[in-house]
Amino acid sequence: MAALLLYYEVYCMKALLDSLRPGDKDWELARAIDPDRLPAHIAIIMDGNGRWAARRRLPRVAGHKAGVGPVRSTVETCARLGIQVLTLYAFSVENWKRPRAEVETLWRLLRFYLRKELPELQKNDIRLQAIGRLDALPPDVRRELDAVVDATAANRGLLVNLAINYGGRTEIVDAVNSIIDLARMEGRLSTLQVDEDLISAHLYTSSSPSPDLLIRTSGEMRLSNFLLWQIAYAELYVTETLWPDFSRTHLLTAVLEYQKRDRRYGGLSGTPFNGDRSADSEEMIAALPVR
Ligand code: FPP
Repeated sequence: MAALLLYYEVYCMKALLDSLRPGDKDWELARAIDPDRLPAHIAIIMDGNGRWAARRRLPRVAGHKAGVGPVRSTVETCARLGIQVLTLYAFSVENWKRPRAEVETLWRLLRFYLRKELPELQKNDIRLQAIGRLDALPPDVRRELDAVVDATAANRGLLVNLAINYGGRTEIVDAVNSIIDLARMEGRLSTLQVDEDLISAHLYTSSSPSPDLLIRTSGEMRLSNFLLWQIAYAELYVTETLWPDFSRTHLLTAVLEYQKRDRRYGGLSGTPFNGDRSADSEEMIAALPVR
């Protein structure tokens, strides 16, 4: 399985290099990436569309429209790199507070994206999934979303999770309620024990590994209620770049930065995750004075 995964990663990296011109900046960046240490899951808070538009004296919706291109190029680059999962924060449960015209533009853009991208998703073996409280979406948006999710369900390459009407806290609430409902249905509510694995198994993202890398554009140092449970050990990468300007170069730079990080999961550098102690450290602990 590990050999198969490595083959897939190296094969995909070749696909990315083949699509670039030798000597170009992105080609150099791609060549510097270690295919054995790719993040399995990248999550992105796509922020700064409004500011991008304001700087050009354009209406906010122009920023959202300009944000579709980077969605396309990011999906394509992740597929070519051999990333397993990409989760994009497209619409939060709080975004309903925005003016109606802006919200409607976001739905229009999503439908436009879905219609236009389906052939590319199929061609590149990409599976699309939506996470969030999807029942609240306008019926026409839900229909088109379901159609693309169904059409790409058998694809085995990159999984793209679109977080729509998504909130990290509502996701945890939904997971807890689904655990309770199931236990009640099965008549074992009175003996129910909840642990981390059980909650993880009831999240919208239960079938995906947790994000390794969380990217936020536009320089804001906030998590904005995104994947709160899953990002416990994610590496954070914040760029000043506004989402409509986020290019392949920025994505490759973020992956390279991720590969420089020393991931310790609360342990020490180079120590195993389960915290096994060596015989030496047992002796040192025994020699410590106890008051
Ligand atoms: C945040 O920028 C962005 C959003 C709320 C929407 C993201 C939408 C897109 C990138 C467009 C299309 C998406 C898909 C999936 C096709 P903001 O408006 O909060 O920016 P600001 O902080 O500068 O005001």
